[in-house]
Amino acid sequence: MRTIDVELAGRAYEVRVGPGLLERLGEECGPLLRKDTVPVITDAQVAALYRDKVDAALAAVGKQARWLVLPAGEQTKSWAQLAQVVDFLLAEGVDRNDRIVALGGGVIGDLTGFAAAILKRGCGFVQLPTTLLAQVDSSVGGKTAINVPMGKNLVGAFHQPSLVLADTDVLATLPPRELRAGYAEVVKYGLIDDAEFFAWCETNGPGLLNGDAKARIEAVSRSVAAKARVVAEDERETTGTRALLNLGHTFGHALEAETGYSSALLHGEAVAIGMVLAARYSVRRGLMEQHEADRIAAHFMACDMKAEVAELALDCGGRRLADHMLHDKKMDAGTLPFLLMRGIGRTFLARDVEIDDVASFLDAELRSHHPAG
Ligand code: NAD
Ligand code: GLY
Repeated sequence: MRTIDVELAGRAYEVRVGPGLLERLGEECGPLLRKDTVPVITDAQVAALYRDKVDAALAAVGKQARWLVLPAGEQTKSWAQLAQVVDFLLAEGVDRNDRIVALGGGVIGDLTGFAAAILKRGCGFVQLPTTLLAQVDSSVGGKTAINVPMGKNLVGAFHQPSLVLADTDVLATLPPRELRAGYAEVVKYGLIDDAEFFAWCETNGPGLLNGDAKARIEAVSRSVAAKARVVAEDERETTGTRALLNLGHTFGHALEAETGYSSALLHGEAVAIGMVLAARYSVRRGLMEQHEADRIAAHFMACDMKAEVAELALDCGGRRLADHMLHDKKMDAGTLPFLLMRGIGRTFLARDVEIDDVASFLDAELRSHHPAG
Protein backbone atom coordinates (compact mmCIF):
# COMPACT_ATOMS: atom_id res chain seq x y z
CA MET A 1 0.00 0.00 0.00
CA ARG A 2 1.16 3.56 -0.72
CA THR A 3 0.22 6.51 1.44
CA ILE A 4 0.11 10.05 0.13
CA ASP A 5 -0.33 12.97 2.50
CA VAL A 6 -2.49 15.89 1.53
CA GLU A 7 -0.84 18.62 3.53
CA LEU A 8 -3.38 21.24 4.52
CA ALA A 9 -2.90 23.03 7.81
CA GLY A 10 -5.48 21.79 10.29
CA ARG A 11 -7.17 19.58 7.68
CA ALA A 12 -4.38 17.27 6.55
CA TYR A 13 -5.40 13.75 5.56
CA GLU A 14 -4.04 10.60 3.99
CA VAL A 15 -4.85 8.98 0.67
CA ARG A 16 -4.03 5.27 0.84
CA VAL A 17 -3.71 3.44 -2.45
CA GLY A 18 -3.45 -0.29 -3.00
CA PRO A 19 -5.27 -3.61 -3.22
CA GLY A 20 -7.54 -5.02 -0.50
CA LEU A 21 -8.38 -1.72 1.20
CA LEU A 22 -12.14 -2.30 1.18
CA GLU A 23 -11.68 -5.60 3.00
CA ARG A 24 -9.69 -3.78 5.68
CA LEU A 25 -12.05 -0.81 5.82
CA GLY A 26 -12.74 -1.08 9.55
CA GLU A 27 -9.06 -1.25 10.51
CA GLU A 28 -8.06 1.44 8.02
CA CYS A 29 -10.61 3.89 9.42
CA GLY A 30 -9.81 3.00 13.04
CA PRO A 31 -10.99 5.67 15.48
CA LEU A 32 -12.50 7.79 12.69
CA LEU A 33 -15.57 5.57 13.04
CA ARG A 34 -16.76 6.40 16.56
CA LYS A 35 -20.17 4.75 16.71
CA ASP A 36 -21.44 1.21 16.21
CA THR A 37 -23.31 2.24 13.08
CA VAL A 38 -21.66 3.76 10.00
CA PRO A 39 -23.68 5.65 7.36
CA VAL A 40 -22.62 4.58 3.85
CA ILE A 41 -23.85 6.36 0.73
CA THR A 42 -23.47 4.55 -2.58
CA ASP A 43 -25.19 3.93 -5.91
CA ALA A 44 -27.11 0.83 -6.97
CA GLN A 45 -24.44 -0.45 -9.34
CA VAL A 46 -21.67 -0.21 -6.75
CA ALA A 47 -23.92 -1.63 -4.00
CA ALA A 48 -24.58 -4.72 -6.11
CA LEU A 49 -20.83 -5.32 -6.35
CA TYR A 50 -19.41 -4.20 -3.00
CA ARG A 51 -22.13 -3.98 -0.35
CA ASP A 52 -21.40 -7.44 1.09
CA LYS A 53 -17.67 -6.74 1.25
CA VAL A 54 -18.21 -3.46 3.12
CA ASP A 55 -20.74 -5.06 5.49
CA ALA A 56 -18.23 -7.80 6.31
CA ALA A 57 -15.33 -5.36 6.73
CA LEU A 58 -17.31 -3.27 9.20
CA ALA A 59 -18.72 -6.30 11.01
CA ALA A 60 -15.13 -7.47 11.53
CA VAL A 61 -14.59 -4.44 13.79
CA GLY A 62 -17.98 -4.70 15.45
CA LYS A 63 -19.75 -2.10 13.34
CA GLN A 64 -22.85 -2.11 11.20
CA ALA A 65 -23.20 -0.27 7.90
CA ARG A 66 -26.38 1.79 7.45
CA TRP A 67 -26.95 2.06 3.71
CA LEU A 68 -28.45 4.70 1.50
CA VAL A 69 -28.39 3.37 -2.07
CA LEU A 70 -29.07 5.95 -4.78
CA PRO A 71 -29.58 5.51 -8.52
CA ALA A 72 -26.34 5.30 -10.51
CA GLY A 73 -25.59 8.15 -12.89
CA GLU A 74 -24.90 11.86 -13.17
CA GLN A 75 -28.56 12.79 -12.55
CA THR A 76 -28.06 11.73 -8.93
CA LYS A 77 -25.98 14.88 -8.30
CA SER A 78 -29.20 16.87 -7.80
CA TRP A 79 -31.04 18.96 -5.20
CA ALA A 80 -33.55 16.13 -4.75
CA GLN A 81 -30.91 13.51 -3.98
CA LEU A 82 -28.98 15.95 -1.79
CA ALA A 83 -32.14 16.40 0.30
CA GLN A 84 -32.51 12.65 0.50
CA VAL A 85 -28.93 12.21 1.71
CA VAL A 86 -29.25 14.96 4.31
CA ASP A 87 -32.58 13.61 5.61
CA PHE A 88 -31.10 10.13 5.82
CA LEU A 89 -28.07 11.36 7.77
CA LEU A 90 -30.25 13.35 10.18
CA ALA A 91 -32.48 10.33 10.73
CA GLU A 92 -29.34 8.31 11.45
CA GLY A 93 -28.40 10.81 14.15
CA VAL A 94 -25.09 11.74 12.54
CA ASP A 95 -23.13 14.25 14.62
CA ARG A 96 -20.45 16.70 13.54
CA ASN A 97 -17.62 14.46 14.65
CA ASP A 98 -18.99 11.39 12.90
CA ARG A 99 -17.76 10.30 9.49
CA ILE A 100 -20.04 9.58 6.55
CA VAL A 101 -18.69 7.04 4.09
CA ALA A 102 -18.95 7.73 0.34
CA LEU A 103 -18.56 4.49 -1.65
CA GLY A 104 -18.59 5.05 -5.40
CA GLY A 105 -17.43 7.18 -8.28
CA GLY A 106 -17.27 10.95 -8.57
CA VAL A 107 -21.06 11.28 -8.48
CA ILE A 108 -21.39 9.69 -5.04
CA GLY A 109 -18.21 11.39 -3.76
CA ASP A 110 -19.27 14.88 -4.88
CA LEU A 111 -22.83 14.50 -3.57
CA THR A 112 -21.87 12.94 -0.23
CA GLY A 113 -19.07 15.44 0.27
CA PHE A 114 -21.49 18.31 -0.27
CA ALA A 115 -24.01 16.78 2.14
CA ALA A 116 -21.19 16.42 4.69
CA ALA A 117 -20.21 20.06 4.13
CA ILE A 118 -23.66 21.37 5.01
CA LEU A 119 -24.89 18.83 7.57
CA LYS A 120 -24.88 20.56 10.95
CA ARG A 121 -22.57 23.18 9.33
CA GLY A 122 -20.03 20.54 8.43
CA CYS A 123 -19.22 17.01 9.46
CA GLY A 124 -16.54 14.58 8.37
CA PHE A 125 -16.55 12.07 5.53
CA VAL A 126 -14.39 9.28 4.20
CA GLN A 127 -14.02 8.71 0.47
CA LEU A 128 -13.91 5.16 -0.89
CA PRO A 129 -13.53 5.96 -4.61
CA THR A 130 -14.43 3.07 -6.91
CA THR A 131 -13.79 4.52 -10.40
CA LEU A 132 -10.38 5.38 -11.81
CA LEU A 133 -11.57 8.96 -12.25
CA ALA A 134 -12.58 9.19 -8.61
CA GLN A 135 -9.36 7.59 -7.39
CA VAL A 136 -7.05 9.90 -9.33
CA ASP A 137 -9.08 13.08 -9.21
CA SER A 138 -12.48 13.67 -7.62
CA SER A 139 -11.96 11.99 -4.23
CA VAL A 140 -8.90 14.13 -3.47
CA GLY A 141 -8.90 17.87 -2.96
CA GLY A 142 -12.27 18.65 -1.42
CA LYS A 143 -14.31 19.94 -4.35
CA THR A 144 -17.90 18.85 -3.75
CA ALA A 145 -20.97 19.80 -5.76
CA ILE A 146 -24.31 19.04 -7.31
CA ASN A 147 -25.65 19.96 -10.76
CA VAL A 148 -28.54 22.40 -11.27
CA PRO A 149 -30.58 23.24 -14.37
CA MET A 150 -28.19 26.13 -15.19
CA GLY A 151 -25.19 23.82 -15.34
CA LYS A 152 -22.88 21.21 -13.88
CA ASN A 153 -21.27 21.59 -10.46
CA LEU A 154 -22.66 25.09 -10.02
CA VAL A 155 -23.65 24.56 -6.38
CA GLY A 156 -21.11 23.16 -3.99
CA ALA A 157 -18.43 23.71 -1.38
CA PHE A 158 -14.80 23.07 -0.68
CA HIS A 159 -14.85 20.39 2.00
CA GLN A 160 -11.92 18.05 2.50
CA PRO A 161 -12.43 14.39 3.42
CA SER A 162 -10.85 12.92 6.57
CA LEU A 163 -9.39 9.95 4.71
CA VAL A 164 -9.38 8.50 1.19
CA LEU A 165 -9.01 4.76 0.63
CA ALA A 166 -8.42 3.99 -3.06
CA ASP A 167 -8.73 0.22 -3.35
CA THR A 168 -7.24 -0.57 -6.75
CA ASP A 169 -8.87 -4.05 -6.79
CA VAL A 170 -12.27 -2.50 -7.46
CA LEU A 171 -11.07 -1.19 -10.82
CA ALA A 172 -11.35 -4.79 -12.07
CA THR A 173 -15.16 -4.49 -12.29
CA LEU A 174 -15.20 -1.05 -13.91
CA PRO A 175 -16.56 -1.09 -17.50
CA PRO A 176 -13.65 -0.56 -19.97
CA ARG A 177 -15.18 2.68 -21.22
CA GLU A 178 -15.29 4.15 -17.69
CA LEU A 179 -11.72 2.98 -17.09
CA ARG A 180 -10.51 4.75 -20.22
CA ALA A 181 -12.40 7.92 -19.33
CA GLY A 182 -10.66 7.97 -15.94
CA TYR A 183 -7.32 7.29 -17.60
CA ALA A 184 -7.57 10.63 -19.42
CA GLU A 185 -7.21 12.32 -16.02
CA VAL A 186 -4.08 10.23 -15.32
CA VAL A 187 -2.47 11.39 -18.57
CA LYS A 188 -3.45 14.94 -17.65
CA TYR A 189 -0.98 14.99 -14.75
CA GLY A 190 1.87 14.12 -17.10
CA LEU A 191 0.84 16.78 -19.58
CA ILE A 192 0.57 19.47 -16.91
CA ASP A 193 4.06 19.36 -15.44
CA ASP A 194 5.61 15.90 -15.56
CA ALA A 195 6.90 14.88 -19.00
CA GLU A 196 8.56 11.81 -17.49
CA PHE A 197 5.16 10.61 -16.20
CA PHE A 198 3.66 11.13 -19.66
CA ALA A 199 6.44 8.94 -21.06
CA TRP A 200 5.62 6.37 -18.33
CA CYS A 201 2.00 6.48 -19.53
CA GLU A 202 3.09 5.88 -23.11
CA THR A 203 4.89 2.73 -22.00
CA ASN A 204 2.43 1.48 -19.40
CA GLY A 205 -0.99 2.93 -20.33
CA PRO A 206 -2.17 0.12 -22.62
CA GLY A 207 -1.11 -2.52 -20.05
CA LEU A 208 -2.80 -0.62 -17.23
CA LEU A 209 -6.04 -0.50 -19.20
CA ASN A 210 -5.77 -4.22 -19.93
CA GLY A 211 -5.50 -5.19 -16.26
CA ASP A 212 -1.87 -4.69 -15.15
CA ALA A 213 -2.45 -4.33 -11.40
CA LYS A 214 1.01 -2.91 -10.60
CA ALA A 215 0.67 -0.26 -13.28
CA ARG A 216 -2.73 0.71 -11.84
CA ILE A 217 -1.28 1.20 -8.36
CA GLU A 218 1.60 3.22 -9.77
CA ALA A 219 -0.68 5.39 -11.91
CA VAL A 220 -3.14 6.08 -9.10
CA SER A 221 -0.34 6.84 -6.59
CA ARG A 222 1.51 9.18 -8.92
CA SER A 223 -1.68 10.95 -9.93
CA VAL A 224 -2.79 11.40 -6.32
CA ALA A 225 0.67 12.67 -5.36
CA ALA A 226 0.50 15.22 -8.18
CA LYS A 227 -2.97 16.34 -7.17
CA ALA A 228 -2.02 16.49 -3.47
CA ARG A 229 0.88 18.83 -4.30
CA VAL A 230 -1.37 21.15 -6.26
CA VAL A 231 -4.14 21.17 -3.64
CA ALA A 232 -1.66 21.86 -0.82
CA GLU A 233 -0.40 24.85 -2.79
CA ASP A 234 -3.73 26.28 -3.93
CA GLU A 235 -6.64 24.62 -2.15
CA ARG A 236 -9.30 27.09 -3.31
CA GLU A 237 -8.05 27.75 -6.84
CA THR A 238 -7.07 31.30 -6.08
CA THR A 239 -3.45 31.51 -7.24
CA GLY A 240 -3.82 29.74 -10.60
CA THR A 241 -1.94 26.58 -9.64
CA ARG A 242 -5.06 24.46 -9.10
CA ALA A 243 -6.53 25.84 -12.31
CA LEU A 244 -3.85 23.81 -14.12
CA LEU A 245 -5.88 20.71 -13.24
CA ASN A 246 -8.46 21.94 -15.73
CA LEU A 247 -6.22 21.20 -18.71
CA GLY A 248 -8.43 20.12 -21.61
CA HIS A 249 -11.57 20.91 -19.63
CA THR A 250 -12.60 24.15 -21.37
CA PHE A 251 -12.62 22.44 -24.77
CA GLY A 252 -13.99 19.30 -23.09
CA HIS A 253 -16.90 21.07 -21.39
CA ALA A 254 -17.91 22.61 -24.71
CA LEU A 255 -18.08 19.09 -26.19
CA GLU A 256 -20.02 17.81 -23.17
CA ALA A 257 -22.46 20.70 -23.43
CA GLU A 258 -22.94 20.06 -27.16
CA THR A 259 -23.65 16.36 -26.49
CA GLY A 260 -26.04 17.25 -23.65
CA TYR A 261 -23.83 15.91 -20.81
CA SER A 262 -25.08 12.50 -21.86
CA SER A 263 -23.59 9.04 -22.07
CA ALA A 264 -22.79 9.88 -25.71
CA LEU A 265 -19.58 11.42 -24.37
CA LEU A 266 -18.23 10.74 -20.88
CA HIS A 267 -16.43 13.53 -19.04
CA GLY A 268 -13.02 11.84 -19.33
CA GLU A 269 -13.57 11.16 -23.03
CA ALA A 270 -14.26 14.86 -23.54
CA VAL A 271 -11.16 15.77 -21.52
CA ALA A 272 -8.94 13.50 -23.65
CA ILE A 273 -10.13 15.17 -26.87
CA GLY A 274 -9.98 18.53 -25.08
CA MET A 275 -6.31 18.02 -24.20
CA VAL A 276 -5.51 17.16 -27.82
CA LEU A 277 -7.33 20.35 -28.86
CA ALA A 278 -5.45 22.41 -26.25
CA ALA A 279 -2.17 21.03 -27.58
CA ARG A 280 -3.10 21.72 -31.23
CA TYR A 281 -4.31 25.19 -30.36
CA SER A 282 -0.97 25.76 -28.63
CA VAL A 283 0.76 24.68 -31.88
CA ARG A 284 -1.41 27.13 -33.83
CA ARG A 285 -0.26 29.88 -31.45
CA GLY A 286 3.39 28.94 -32.08
CA LEU A 287 3.88 27.78 -28.50
CA MET A 288 4.38 24.06 -29.00
CA GLU A 289 5.95 21.78 -31.61
CA GLN A 290 3.56 19.84 -33.85
CA HIS A 291 5.25 16.52 -33.10
CA GLU A 292 4.50 16.92 -29.38
CA ALA A 293 0.79 17.46 -30.04
CA ASP A 294 0.88 14.43 -32.36
CA ARG A 295 2.42 12.36 -29.56
CA ILE A 296 -0.54 13.10 -27.28
CA ALA A 297 -3.13 12.14 -29.91
CA ALA A 298 -1.11 9.02 -30.77
CA HIS A 299 -1.06 7.94 -27.13
CA PHE A 300 -4.84 8.14 -26.77
CA MET A 301 -5.26 6.20 -30.00
CA ALA A 302 -2.83 3.54 -28.75
CA CYS A 303 -5.12 3.22 -25.73
CA ASP A 304 -8.23 2.75 -27.93
CA MET A 305 -9.49 6.17 -26.99
CA LYS A 306 -10.89 8.87 -29.23
CA ALA A 307 -8.45 11.71 -29.81
CA GLU A 308 -10.14 13.58 -32.66
CA VAL A 309 -13.09 15.92 -32.28
CA ALA A 310 -14.02 15.13 -35.91
CA GLU A 311 -14.71 11.52 -34.82
CA LEU A 312 -17.66 12.76 -32.75
CA ALA A 313 -19.40 13.84 -35.99
CA LEU A 314 -21.03 16.79 -34.22
CA ASP A 315 -23.69 18.68 -36.08
CA CYS A 316 -22.30 22.13 -35.26
CA GLY A 317 -19.59 24.58 -36.13
CA GLY A 318 -16.74 26.03 -34.11
CA ARG A 319 -18.75 29.11 -33.21
CA ARG A 320 -21.33 27.07 -31.32
CA LEU A 321 -18.65 25.19 -29.38
CA ALA A 322 -16.97 28.48 -28.55
CA ASP A 323 -20.31 29.87 -27.37
CA HIS A 324 -20.62 26.99 -24.91
CA MET A 325 -17.29 28.09 -23.47
CA LEU A 326 -18.75 31.47 -22.57
CA HIS A 327 -20.96 29.69 -20.01
CA ASP A 328 -17.92 28.08 -18.40
CA LYS A 329 -17.78 28.68 -14.66
CA LYS A 330 -14.13 29.67 -15.05
CA MET A 331 -15.23 32.83 -16.86
CA ASP A 332 -13.76 35.74 -14.98
CA ALA A 333 -15.07 39.27 -15.55
CA GLY A 334 -15.88 38.53 -19.18
CA THR A 335 -12.62 36.76 -20.06
CA LEU A 336 -12.00 33.05 -20.20
CA PRO A 337 -8.59 31.85 -18.98
CA PHE A 338 -7.26 29.04 -21.19
CA LEU A 339 -4.76 26.34 -20.37
CA LEU A 340 -2.19 26.06 -23.13
CA MET A 341 1.11 24.19 -23.46
CA ARG A 342 4.66 25.15 -24.29
CA GLY A 343 5.35 21.44 -24.59
CA ILE A 344 4.45 18.17 -22.89
CA GLY A 345 4.67 18.84 -19.14
CA ARG A 346 4.73 22.60 -19.66
CA THR A 347 1.13 23.76 -19.21
CA PHE A 348 0.37 27.36 -18.33
CA LEU A 349 -2.62 29.64 -17.92
CA ALA A 350 -3.10 32.07 -20.82
CA ARG A 351 -5.34 35.08 -20.39
CA ASP A 352 -5.03 36.54 -23.87
CA VAL A 353 -6.99 34.00 -25.89
CA GLU A 354 -9.54 35.45 -28.29
CA ILE A 355 -12.70 33.42 -28.46
CA ASP A 356 -13.15 34.20 -32.19
CA ASP A 357 -9.77 32.65 -32.90
CA VAL A 358 -10.74 29.56 -30.89
CA ALA A 359 -13.97 29.34 -32.91
CA SER A 360 -12.13 29.36 -36.23
CA PHE A 361 -9.59 26.81 -34.91
CA LEU A 362 -12.46 24.54 -33.86
CA ASP A 363 -14.15 24.95 -37.24
CA ALA A 364 -11.07 23.51 -38.89
CA GLU A 365 -10.70 20.72 -36.29
CA LEU A 366 -14.33 19.66 -36.65
CA ARG A 367 -13.71 19.02 -40.33
CA SER A 368 -10.14 17.77 -40.32
CA HIS A 369 -8.88 14.21 -40.35
CA HIS A 370 -5.43 14.10 -38.87
CA PRO A 371 -3.22 11.22 -39.98
CA ALA A 372 -3.36 8.51 -37.27
CA GLY A 373 -0.48 8.95 -34.87
P1 NAD B 1 -19.82 7.89 -11.70
O1 NAD B 1 -19.70 8.14 -10.27
O2 NAD B 1 -21.13 8.14 -12.35
O3 NAD B 1 -19.38 6.39 -12.00
C1 NAD B 1 -19.46 5.90 -13.33
C2 NAD B 1 -20.25 4.59 -13.39
O4 NAD B 1 -19.43 3.54 -12.90
C3 NAD B 1 -21.52 4.58 -12.55
O5 NAD B 1 -22.51 3.93 -13.27
C4 NAD B 1 -21.14 3.73 -11.34
O6 NAD B 1 -22.24 3.04 -10.77
C5 NAD B 1 -20.15 2.77 -11.93
N1 NAD B 1 -19.14 2.25 -11.03
C6 NAD B 1 -18.46 2.91 -10.07
N2 NAD B 1 -17.51 2.15 -9.55
C7 NAD B 1 -17.59 0.95 -10.17
C8 NAD B 1 -16.84 -0.25 -10.08
N3 NAD B 1 -15.78 -0.37 -9.27
N4 NAD B 1 -17.21 -1.31 -10.86
C9 NAD B 1 -18.26 -1.17 -11.72
N5 NAD B 1 -18.97 -0.06 -11.88
C10 NAD B 1 -18.64 1.00 -11.10
O7 NAD B 1 -18.74 8.73 -12.56
P2 NAD B 1 -17.22 9.13 -12.33
O8 NAD B 1 -16.64 9.16 -13.68
O9 NAD B 1 -16.58 8.35 -11.27
O10 NAD B 1 -17.35 10.62 -11.78
C11 NAD B 1 -17.91 11.65 -12.56
C12 NAD B 1 -18.31 12.78 -11.65
O11 NAD B 1 -17.14 13.25 -10.96
C13 NAD B 1 -18.88 13.97 -12.37
O12 NAD B 1 -20.06 14.37 -11.72
C14 NAD B 1 -17.82 15.06 -12.24
O13 NAD B 1 -18.36 16.34 -12.18
C15 NAD B 1 -17.17 14.67 -10.94
N6 NAD B 1 -15.79 15.15 -10.78
C16 NAD B 1 -15.49 15.78 -9.63
C17 NAD B 1 -14.19 16.21 -9.41
C18 NAD B 1 -13.83 16.86 -8.11
O14 NAD B 1 -12.73 17.38 -7.98
N7 NAD B 1 -14.70 16.82 -7.14
C19 NAD B 1 -13.20 16.00 -10.37
C20 NAD B 1 -13.55 15.32 -11.54
C21 NAD B 1 -14.86 14.90 -11.73
N1 GLY C 1 -10.62 18.29 -10.86
C1 GLY C 1 -10.11 19.61 -10.72
C2 GLY C 1 -9.82 20.00 -9.31
O1 GLY C 1 -9.97 19.21 -8.41
O2 GLY C 1 -9.43 21.10 -9.09
